[in-house]
Amino acid sequence: MRNISLILKQFSRSVLLVAGLAVCGFNANAQTDAAKGEALFKAKCTACHKIDTRMTGPALGPQLTQETDDAYLTKWIQNNQALIAAKNPKALKIYNEFNQAGMTVFAELSDADVGNIITYVRTEWKTMQEERAKAPAGGAAAAEQGPSSLVVWGLIGVIVIALIVILVLNKVIGTLERLLLNRQGVSLIEEETAEEAETKAARAAVFKKLIKNKKLVFFVVLCLTIAFGSWNWVTMWNTNVHQGYQPEQPIKYSHELHAGAMKIECQYCHVAAFKGKNASIPSLNICMNCHKSVKTESPEIHKIYDALGYDPNTAKYDSTKAKPIQWVRVHNLPDLAYFNHSQHVKVGGIKCQTCHGQIQEMKEVYQYSPLTMKWCIQCHKRTQVNSKGNAYYDSILAAHEKFKKGEKVTAALLGGIECAKCHY
Ligand code: HEC
Ligand code: HEC
Ligand code: HEC
Ligand code: HEC
Ligand code: HEC
Ligand code: HEC
Repeated sequence: MRNISLILKQFSRSVLLVAGLAVCGFNANAQTDAAKGEALFKAKCTACHKIDTRMTGPALGPQLTQETDDAYLTKWIQNNQALIAAKNPKALKIYNEFNQAGMTVFAELSDADVGNIITYVRTEWKTMQEERAKAPAGGAAAAEQGPSSLVVWGLIGVIVIALIVILVLNKVIGTLERLLLNRQGVSLIEEETAEEAETKAARAAVFKKLIKNKKLVFFVVLCLTIAFGSWNWVTMWNTNVHQGYQPEQPIKYSHELHAGAMKIECQYCHVAAFKGKNASIPSLNICMNCHKSVKTESPEIHKIYDALGYDPNTAKYDSTKAKPIQWVRVHNLPDLAYFNHSQHVKVGGIKCQTCHGQIQEMKEVYQYSPLTMKWCIQCHKRTQVNSKGNAYYDSILAAHEKFKKGEKVTAALLGGIECAKCHY
């Protein structure tokens, strides 16, 4: 008996082992497929598709979950034009639904490639939905992160009012008690006044003594001067410093959504930051690259349409009806200071976030840095300049060598014939 049970145990163990290995192998296979699919999807499809939202093309997560005919999908992705030309009803339907926008033909993708992309999109969409199902709880927790300032001020108000009420009631009760005693013919007034007079005199004496104490008076005056002086100092330094400034913008455009969640690169909209002095605010045409078809029903997006004189029903622009959006400027140096974005972003290699904070987490932009002269200077003192591969520094080093050898150094060698030195 014992032997049999031992054999059975060993047998079941080896079965488990084989099953386990099989599962692992299968998993590894699925993973590499999805990983290959992800790479292909990111390289070829993200220009027009997202998994969870509609862009130029449909949101692929729901699309590929609804449409289960993989043979059709493979044909579509490899050559949608052929399907449309052959008047495939499914293909025609989606083609017309998207105003015949037309998708790129991907003849170079093999059946396996397409299969990998589809696997990736479906699994990714599934995890996204699972995460979303969990999200509300997390969101609520985040919202409850500490009381709002309104609540705090409300509490302080209630406490102050309560204190005042207590004081007033105390006074009233005292007076009433005295009146009651008076009525009953018990007069305490004379004794009290006598006592009070005594204490008053004593207090006056102490006060006089204190005033005569010159050291103490000096100390008090000094304290007051320091307090007032430092308050003044801080206020003066902070005049015209707008750190934290967060104006309300005419459209509820959110960096948290576009630059954060959707990971659109800063330069997609602020391309000028790498090219010149100003980073500049993007024109609404950039928004239309997506919003012609994204969230077309939103009143906020209709503000974009109105500003451009665009009619979403006819998809036509009427420039006579256009009235530009007045974005409220957040950052603003006075004219007497020259600040150049490309010098810092491109030459200096400084990240936008170093100066502007975590913009990709801001629903509404606010001024993160003080933008004072002290702020500019402190960074210039602390930041090491990267001179490698920079022709400007190469020429300075060359000039330096010449100076050392006592050779002739011209202004031209120091960049004196570069156009931007004299023109801007
Ligand atoms: C240039 C933009 C563009 C690119 C790139 C693009 N698509 Fe599309 N896709 C579209 C548009 C637009 C549609 C809607 C149909 C139409 O107008 O042709 C669409 C539709 C689809 C459909 C829906 C077909 C149906 O009948 O349900 C699938 C699936 C699809 N695309 C997959 C992909 C995949 C996978 C890639 C990457 C290999 C890709 N697309 C790349 C623009 C694009
Ligand atoms: C889809 C376009 C878009 C993208 C991407 C984008 N921005 Fe913006 N940005 C805008 C618009 C529109 C405004 C003006 C409205 C506002 O202030 O919110 C703006 C305003 C700003 C401002 C304030 C400008 C002022 O008035 O002083 C800063 C700073 C800024 N963006 C930095 C960034 C950074 C950093 C990134 C990348 C992490 C980024 N933006 C990505 C469109 C974009
Ligand atoms: C690359 C595509 C893309 C670009 C460019 C883009 N957006 Fe968006 N935007 C989206 C998507 C996608 C959503 C919707 C997300 C969702 O489903 O809630 C959105 C949402 C919005 C919303 C919220 C609408 C609502 O009612 O929820 C506003 C407002 C908005 N965008 C304004 C802008 C402005 C202004 C610009 C130009 C500076 C811009 N967007 C550029 C893709 C884009
Ligand atoms: C070294 C600090 C610094 C860095 C890095 C920086 N900025 Fe700025 N940014 C500023 C200052 C200072 C201003 C105000 C300029 C003015 O008023 O002339 C500004 C203004 C802006 C504005 C308002 C419009 C304008 O051009 O004045 C935008 C938009 C902006 N920055 C975006 C960006 C983006 C995007 C990046 C990254 C690619 C970036 N900034 C990197 C300091 C910086
Ligand atoms: C986060 C650090 C940082 C901040 C903040 C900063 N700078 Fe700079 N700045 C640099 C670096 C690094 C360089 C050198 C870039 C290079 O290699 O040319 C530079 C270079 C410059 C230059 C060119 C100097 C030259 O020799 O040609 C000017 C002008 C300048 N900054 C102005 C400003 C002003 C004005 C401010 C404040 C509004 C400011 N910077 C804020 C880091 C900073
Ligand atoms: C050392 C300083 C300096 C440098 C470097 C310089 N310029 Fe000039 N440039 C001037 C001055 C000063 C004038 C005005 C002369 C006049 O009006 O007679 C001028 C005039 C001009 C004009 C004529 C403008 C007009 O309205 O007539 C042009 C165009 C021009 N420069 C282009 C350039 C270009 C391109 C470069 C770079 C290759 C350059 N400059 C480099 C100083 C300079």
